[in-house]
Amino acid sequence: MQARKKLYIKTWGCQMNSYDSDRMADILGPLGYDKVDVPEGADMIILNTCHIREKATDKVFSDLGRLRPHKDQKEKDGGKMLIAVAGCVAQAEGDFILERAPYVDMVFGPQTYHELPEMIVKATGERVINTEFPANSKFDSLPGAHGSRSASAFLSIQEGCDKFCTFCVVPYTRGAEFSRTVKEILDEAYNLVENGAKELTLLGQNVNAFHGEGPDGSVWGLGRLIREIDRIEGLERIRYTTSHPRDMDDELIAAHGDIEKLMPFLHLPVQSGSDRVLELMNRKHDAALYRDVVARLRAARPDLAFSSDFIVGFPGETDEDFEQTLGLVRDVNYASCYSFKYSARPGTPAANMKTALVRDDIASERLARLQTLINEQQRTFNQSCAGMTIPVLFERKGKKTGQIQGRSPWNQSVYVIAPDRLIGCILDVNISEGFENSLSGTVAIGEEYAQN
Ligand code: SAH
Ligand code: SF4
Ligand code: F3S
Repeated sequence: MQARKKLYIKTWGCQMNSYDSDRMADILGPLGYDKVDVPEGADMIILNTCHIREKATDKVFSDLGRLRPHKDQKEKDGGKMLIAVAGCVAQAEGDFILERAPYVDMVFGPQTYHELPEMIVKATGERVINTEFPANSKFDSLPGAHGSRSASAFLSIQEGCDKFCTFCVVPYTRGAEFSRTVKEILDEAYNLVENGAKELTLLGQNVNAFHGEGPDGSVWGLGRLIREIDRIEGLERIRYTTSHPRDMDDELIAAHGDIEKLMPFLHLPVQSGSDRVLELMNRKHDAALYRDVVARLRAARPDLAFSSDFIVGFPGETDEDFEQTLGLVRDVNYASCYSFKYSARPGTPAANMKTALVRDDIASERLARLQTLINEQQRTFNQSCAGMTIPVLFERKGKKTGQIQGRSPWNQSVYVIAPDRLIGCILDVNISEGFENSLSGTVAIGEEYAQN
């Protein structure tokens, strides 16, 4: 029997990249590759990259630099280490990577990794670049999802984006928006649940723009899809991310009202609270629409908690615009948020805007002010959970010995001291304290009955 080979995958970026990395491992398993945790001595290395902000690319190149001696060593030992750069940097800067890092064997984008077996054969003789947007979707030829056997699994249902926000690379790196068919999604969902998933997070860069073909040939929206997924026995929690405010339709809002498995937490990026900036960003919604969507969702599900993404220092953003962002944050009152300084991305319309750029020190100051407010809201939200008993899905060991970590319905990290065998279970936890980034507590009851 041929010896098994070692596969090391490092993943940056969004959950879709995590999903893709798991699928690459699924494809390579039957070819003899087993995943390992360190790059040293691996037969194949895949860097699954993200292009969303500047530093992401720099990190890829510094990682590549560190890998080079390992590759040389492997060759000295008579072996071969294939180095592949995958994902969104590969898509955007494939030629540049091959030029700047001559020891990279393969470069392929997010839509072509199902061709990995052929690419590997080819890469033994020449360097391979594959940044097409093939007519046949990768989903048509992926093996069933096996990579994730955890209690919480990702499921990509939609790819790409047609929104073209002026700052964003996603429409270029992931390509045009398309939805998988309902049948394909349900098959994968059942498979994941059979393999132990209790929670499914439906993924897409624009997940609520989902418009997949249903079994009857009609087009299904996300609300209808979630209703169908809700029927899967053994599945206890459903989430979806990332949504666009404009695609939040009545059916989806209603789903939040009456589907208990749909968790009361929603990531709904707004980017800015100023209509002027939203217009420059080509977000296709204003602050009023966002506020209205939030209000309608809260009316459907009063305990719904929100998170968002913000960009500060977008070209042309004034103090007044920024104050409007702070005002919106105060009004919505978030459970958590991500915030970034604007980073000009090559090839995007905003990178060529003639509008006055915001000075870096001003952007930094705005970011710090926004983050102070966001952190305050997050801490208050977490502290408000102290004294409550809430169901927690335990996912992994905690950082401290004897500790395990899980998620509350509102996506907060919860730490308890409890045996590892509870990982994979949903158990009630008495929350004793809420911190800025997490909750702590003790398992309430039933620990002795919980089985893996
Ligand atoms: N599809 C999602 C998010 C995509 S990228 C949406 O529509 O909101 C994730 C986040 O990265 C974005 O929400 C945005 O806040 C941030 N981001 C994207 N491009 C950026 C850029 N050029 N500079 C800074 N932040 C950016
Ligand atoms: Fe990027 Fe805008 Fe599409 Fe989100 S909606 S992925 S920010 S272009
Ligand atoms: Fe990054 Fe690509 Fe995701 S740019 S955020 S990995 S879609």
